[in-house]
Amino acid sequence: MPACGRRGVRLLRHQHAALVRRGLAAEDGQGLVAVAGEDELVEAFRPEIVSFHFGLPDKSLLKRVKDAGCVVVGCATVVKEAVWLEQNGADAIIAQGAEAGGHRGMFLTDDIATQVGTFALVPQIADAVSVPVIAAGGVTDARGIAAAFALGAAGVQIGSAYLHTPESKISKAHRAALTQAEAATVLTNVFTGRPARSVVNRFVREVGPVAAEAPEFPLAAGAVAPLRAAAEKQGSGDFGPLWAGQAAALGRPLGATELTRALAKEALARLRRLASA
Ligand SMILES: Cc1cc2nc3c(=O)[nH]c(=O)nc-3n(C[C@H](O)[C@H](O)[C@H](O)COP(=O)(O)O)c2cc1C
Repeated sequence: MPACGRRGVRLLRHQHAALVRRGLAAEDGQGLVAVAGEDELVEAFRPEIVSFHFGLPDKSLLKRVKDAGCVVVGCATVVKEAVWLEQNGADAIIAQGAEAGGHRGMFLTDDIATQVGTFALVPQIADAVSVPVIAAGGVTDARGIAAAFALGAAGVQIGSAYLHTPESKISKAHRAALTQAEAATVLTNVFTGRPARSVVNRFVREVGPVAAEAPEFPLAAGAVAPLRAAAEKQGSGDFGPLWAGQAAALGRPLGATELTRALAKEALARLRRLASA
């Protein structure tokens, strides 16, 4: 969310009121995303949960977030990041396996070769910390949710499954890429300068997947922007990020609310079946 400072808060309140009028947001601001640096927004809206990617903000900002009554969630991609997050004030930890779509939350390592898959990461983080662990990466349906709980997770964070929803604002080309049988995904730094999982497209094939000369995060995005815009005008997804996790193809084109309810219901049914087997 780009808005920040007092003007940002005013703008956000205005936008939020408009969304509430259209029935698209809750009165209490639930669903609004706040990121490090946008402290006024957190204090103005006091969301129940504030989650951080790429580590945590400095101690004074984190204190303001906690003083606003928010539960702080951090993202770990290896065990040492989870331990660091707990020691530095995270109330819950997302264990983001290498299968996950979008940016890796890595902050104590830059080695993508040693990033860990969800199946191996969740139980190791669950053993290493005492706060709740939220499994992320490759969880797209009830089977994934049940597996995550079996591995020691207290919850799941699902991203790619929601890209299929009509509410998702991804391009037609991105949407189509999610379900192509040959839609392999890869960790690449060529779109933003940081490792992130995208469907392989022409830009990734020809420049990456990992390029030492990619401009530093987030400058790489500006470098490819004109090419991306020109391609998107022609309906091509060849030069823009097609963020997706490894299990994105399992997603269904349901509305977001319907999908959430279906996932919860199906996961409960699967867990009950497993418990009685
Ligand atoms: C299109 C897309 C955008 C994402 N953007 C963010 C983000 O801004 N901040 C964040 O913490 N995680 C982001 N993620 C990562 C998700 O929060 C989550 O860890 C991931 O999607 C889980 O794996 P899955 O894609 O296999 O479901 C993004 C993921 C996707 C697919």
